[in-house]
Amino acid sequence: MTTSLTELQRLAEKFETAASEIRDRASWEALRLEWTGRKQGLLKSLMGRMKDILPEERRDYGQGVNRLKVRVEERLGELGQGLADAERKAKQGQRALDVTLPGRRPEIGSLHPITVVNREIEAIFTELGYSVADGPEVEDDYHNFEALNFPPGHPAREMQDTLFLENGMLLRTHTSPVQIRTMLARENPPIRVICPGRVYRNDNDLRHSPMFHQVEGLAVAEGITLGDLKGTLEAFVKRLFSAETGIRLRPSFFPFTEPSAEVDVTCPFCAGGGCAVCSQTGWMEILGSGMVDPRVLAGCGIDPDRYSGFAFGLGIDRVAMIKFGIPNIRMLFDNDERLLRQVRI
Ligand code: PHE
Repeated sequence: MTTSLTELQRLAEKFETAASEIRDRASWEALRLEWTGRKQGLLKSLMGRMKDILPEERRDYGQGVNRLKVRVEERLGELGQGLADAERKAKQGQRALDVTLPGRRPEIGSLHPITVVNREIEAIFTELGYSVADGPEVEDDYHNFEALNFPPGHPAREMQDTLFLENGMLLRTHTSPVQIRTMLARENPPIRVICPGRVYRNDNDLRHSPMFHQVEGLAVAEGITLGDLKGTLEAFVKRLFSAETGIRLRPSFFPFTEPSAEVDVTCPFCAGGGCAVCSQTGWMEILGSGMVDPRVLAGCGIDPDRYSGFAFGLGIDRVAMIKFGIPNIRMLFDNDERLLRQVRI
């Protein structure tokens, strides 16, 4: 073999080695320029050497250069295609999953404070043997007033700021009508129920909302006394707030209980010492209660000589405000998500 043909062979091997080391676009581009560049490319200069080759060798040399050219172009094409594929794959991969991006956290929901308190109250009384009753929010005069011993024209009716409907019905002003419905529906005592629900009064300021929540409690059996009422409420508030929480009963008036008492709990913020939340009194009023008036029992077909009972009505909104430190009742009904985020338990 002549020197020029040997050189062609050597150059071909050199190209194969260089080609096998191509890993990225930059080295591929450099190799491509080195070999196929229009002005300085190796193939171009090999062609240019034709005139210096001995005439008898020209044919072989020309064919050799041509073969090399075909091979170089083919191999560069292959490598370029491989690089393009890899680049496209890398891009697709990035689009599908970039593991370095921070994750998108789903919003975790939370319960409304009223729901939280409602569930706690239901859990406590269920343990004490109470069942949960329900009643309509649109009531009639009989269940909301008359059966509860509010005679027509009695001033206690005025105190309830009733919202009347055009059809003669009304929005219940308290959950006490469910006492009546429960007693009328049951055959005989013992009765132990609580009834949580919405109630309505024509009242709207920082401390009052026209719609608010109560839980009614009713226990009727033989021999129930005021001591049972007090003991039940004491056990209840200690579970709901803390073991240190105490209660005090203040004489009060409700047409359907006799005697009647309003019940305060020691302020959970200052443990009774006096603070801004309880207006320095150390106490907070949370419910009305009393011994079921014998007239109410009798009106529901329960013999008041044999049975007695107690009832209470607890303001759930107040309890939620106390438990979660919510200063304004309207915050409970504004549907501002920030409240729910803070209450998360
Ligand atoms: N229903 C009364 C109110 O809303 C509260 C209450 C319930 C009082 C049961 C005594 C017994 O003010």
